[in-house]
Amino acid sequence: MYNMGEPRIKIVAMPKDTNPSGNIFGGWIMSQIDIAGSLAARDLNIHRVVTVAVNSMEFREAVKVGDILSCYAKILKVGKTSITTQIEVNAERSSEGTRRCLHVTSAIITYVNVNEAGEKEAIPYTQNELLALEINQSIPS
Ligand SMILES: CC(C)(COP(=O)(O)OP(=O)(O)OC[C@H]1O[C@@H](n2cnc3c(N)ncnc32)[C@H](O)[C@@H]1OP(=O)(O)O)[C@@H](O)C(=O)NCCC(=O)NCCS
Repeated sequence: MYNMGEPRIKIVAMPKDTNPSGNIFGGWIMSQIDIAGSLAARDLNIHRVVTVAVNSMEFREAVKVGDILSCYAKILKVGKTSITTQIEVNAERSSEGTRRCLHVTSAIITYVNVNEAGEKEAIPYTQNELLALEINQSIPS
């Protein structure tokens, strides 16, 4: 789906993750999205990443208890120390014998490669690695 391969995360939305109106709390969804994006960033040979920016996040549909969320993620762009990722989330919802798949959230999140001390570090990668990951860019000088 979305030309992004297998979901990075597949998880059932549980009652403990609801907000006062009974839908799933947006912060829980954001946390799944952040983890999925960081897993995509690890497609490159990096040490450790921290989230530097949530560039965009759009909640298209409410998520309900029992929905099965699939979080897809891929690298959009690689900088000197940063990796920008796209994350798309679907919810599979069953009710009264029917099953629907809803596109619930889209996000763009940027991570920075850091060392043990939490200092940013250049990301080592080659043009071939970018091609293999279908990242359409040249290595910046
Ligand atoms: C991430 C961190 C190491 C960056 O250090 P810094 O000295 O401020 O780094 P810079 O301003 O040079 O930015 C580093 C990279 O991030 C990119 N970046 C910074 N802010 C950005 C933003 N708002 N949107 C997109 N990219 C951004 C820069 O363009 C740069 O990319 P490049 O090296 O590929 O060109 C530091 O800000 C930090 O430790 N932040 C806290 C991280 C954290 O705790 N996250 C939450 C939990 S994981």
